[in-house]
Amino acid sequence: MTRVFSGIQPTGDLHLGNLLGAVRNWVEMQHRSEGVFCIVDLHALTVATAPGEVGSRTLELAQVLMACGLDPEATTLFVQSHVHEHAELAWILQCNTSFGELNRMTQFKDKSARQRDFISAGLFTYPALQAADILLYDTEEVPVGEDQRQHIELTRDVAERFNARFGETFILPEAVIPPTAARVMDLQNPTDKMSKSAESDAGTILLGDDLAVTAKKLRRAVTDSDNEVRWDPAAKPGVSNLLGILGACTGDDPEALAERYDQYGPLKNDTAEAVVSLLEPIQQRLAELRADPGETSRALAAGADKARTVAVPVLRRATEHIGLLSGG
Ligand code: AMP
Ligand code: TRP
Repeated sequence: MTRVFSGIQPTGDLHLGNLLGAVRNWVEMQHRSEGVFCIVDLHALTVATAPGEVGSRTLELAQVLMACGLDPEATTLFVQSHVHEHAELAWILQCNTSFGELNRMTQFKDKSARQRDFISAGLFTYPALQAADILLYDTEEVPVGEDQRQHIELTRDVAERFNARFGETFILPEAVIPPTAARVMDLQNPTDKMSKSAESDAGTILLGDDLAVTAKKLRRAVTDSDNEVRWDPAAKPGVSNLLGILGACTGDDPEALAERYDQYGPLKNDTAEAVVSLLEPIQQRLAELRADPGETSRALAAGADKARTVAVPVLRRATEHIGLLSGG
């Protein structure tokens, strides 16, 4: 089976873009591939966090992922900091990544522009830790949203360079970007992607939002004034976003869906209904998991044990190829 790895940061609440662009893909993949899914708490430290915050968000995120259908028995679900090999390989890879490569990363440019008084060195070297996450598991495929393509390309470049310097060590991974709803856009500002850091809540659907509020946000989504339902993300971003969301929920092609509507009202209502039906069972399962946090903690501990069985020998392979003096 194909080895698949992906990571998600425990920062902010999950939104519909995360679910349709990332998490749902993981859930679909878990039975036909060997999935390794990681809550990347060390990545979350690249921007300032209050004491205790990362830990509680990590547990919450694990509960949300399990509620969305990730099955810790079928996959490896674990927390990055529980497997020390990530931080260690990250250092080795930083030493095989150039300043210039990191300086070209658009995520760093965007995120550093938003930090007012402190830009951590970790924010800059973030992609080397991400490369370590991926390469530690001999990963073949990395399911992510379009915005992560550049980081996966960098991971390949670093792996290739390492292999050329020290001999065949790492497998070169491929990004796998879902065709529909790869980018869910902000409902109020449909030229920006839906994100937890948006200016107004009205454009973002959080997975934990009250379902009546969710439906209202979709019915109030910004469209345009020419009243024609057509799939055209460049000219009609709002309408195309609704079609993309509806298509991602129902499995239909957004272009074909457009032909079924000649008014915005019914499109909005159907999209609202589809999203509510998608979220309803997730919210029910989440309530059960929250009532027994021990269940999630035990699943994460077992996940870290499973992860180590792969990560430990891969890190050893890398340090042996470099020729670090063996400590016995
Ligand atoms: P982030 O919320 O930026 O930590 O991203 C977590 C995962 O969700 C990554 O794989 C992103 O590519 C994906 N993602 C984030 N925002 C969106 C969006 N608006 N549409 C689709 N995928 C997204
Ligand atoms: N950088 C990714 C994001 O912002 C999260 C991430 C960390 C990741 N490590 C990863 C994604 C490894 C895929 C594979 O979404």
